[in-house]
Amino acid sequence: MITINEHFLKLQSSYLFSTIARKVSEFQEKNKDKEIIKLGIGDVTRALPPACIDAFSKAVNEMGDDSSFRGYGPEQGYQFLREKIAGEDYASVQADISPDEIFISDGSKCDSGNIQEIFGTEIKIGIPDPVYPVYVDTNVMAGRTGIFENGRYTGLFYLESTIDNHFIPAIPSEPLDLIYLCFPNNPTGATITRDVLAQWVEYAKKHKALILYDAAYVAFIRDPSLPHSIYEIDGARDVAIEFRSFSKTAGFTGTRCAFTVVPKTCMAYDTKGNSHQLHSLWNRRHNTKFNGVSYPVQRAAEAVYSPEGKKQVQNLIDYYMTNAALIKTEMEKLGYSCTGGENSPYIWVQAKMNSWDFFDMLLEKAQVVCTPGSGFGKCGEGYIRISAFNNYEKVKEAMERITRVL
Ligand code: MLT
Repeated sequence: MITINEHFLKLQSSYLFSTIARKVSEFQEKNKDKEIIKLGIGDVTRALPPACIDAFSKAVNEMGDDSSFRGYGPEQGYQFLREKIAGEDYASVQADISPDEIFISDGSKCDSGNIQEIFGTEIKIGIPDPVYPVYVDTNVMAGRTGIFENGRYTGLFYLESTIDNHFIPAIPSEPLDLIYLCFPNNPTGATITRDVLAQWVEYAKKHKALILYDAAYVAFIRDPSLPHSIYEIDGARDVAIEFRSFSKTAGFTGTRCAFTVVPKTCMAYDTKGNSHQLHSLWNRRHNTKFNGVSYPVQRAAEAVYSPEGKKQVQNLIDYYMTNAALIKTEMEKLGYSCTGGENSPYIWVQAKMNSWDFFDMLLEKAQVVCTPGSGFGKCGEGYIRISAFNNYEKVKEAMERITRVL
């Protein structure tokens, strides 16, 4: 008899963004004449930068000619892209990361979800609340938690991010083994300073712990004093893995390209206390389960770093950040307290009512989709997240509609 992985039965019935998509399509089915504006899931709407399109098309043409055709590429990614990333994203901020510590992949969702496979089952995990649900759900699937009760999984250590701590969780007083951090934060839009990040690195060193640092929204940082990478902090190479993505930076949500940095000095331990390089474990996993991102997509990603690519990407980011500023200003004018939107494409709004009720009200009365904060965790109750990813005219109209109904 085939049996199932019963840990899946502990999961909430559906992934947050699937629940929202279902609710939106049910509403649309009943209200065919209504035009819905989506500021829910953080999905980009603007075309890829022309520099990426040129590189993409050129690479597609190479694939159409026997003399330049490529079959399987290196699972870890082509050297041309890994070198660009090491130089442009890391050497430029004095972070010592070499190209062979960079693993190109098809997304940070997949990487941040898959990485837990290389860790022990008995580890103590610190997960912020609210949080990107993938970190939690993948650990539930792997059997690292107990049941879901009172809005939380037993067995996880929740790092509360609330208005009282400016949405930056406090350093835990007890030793944890694995800590998830995401800055600029999804969903709250909060940012972390170099000093506070340094305290986390120190904590991880002290407890032989590991930080999984999700920097998918780094391109939206405008304040130059904020760290762009955890590797800007001394010693972070030994205790942190970093995730980055071209999805939000350059509009690759449908094109798929991201990368994960696993420094060779980053160690974890077996039950006897012997240390092991996480780099070689992740490399082994990658070789076995992944066949690389397609050559044309990697060429398109490489073009992000060309002089014209950089300008075009900056224009994209500026465009979405204009939306973010508009959303924040309008919500504040309406008397709602907001976080984010300054170094992040997300605006975290104190809804003054239940998150899902606010979501339903905006959908029904304004036909605007947001994301209910409680979908990101218990501490998200009473908040909603508004995404700046849409066309400016749509965002403007959404804000006019919201202003009318609130
Ligand atoms: C979000 O809206 O939180 C993100 O778009 C989800 C993702 O990147 O997978």
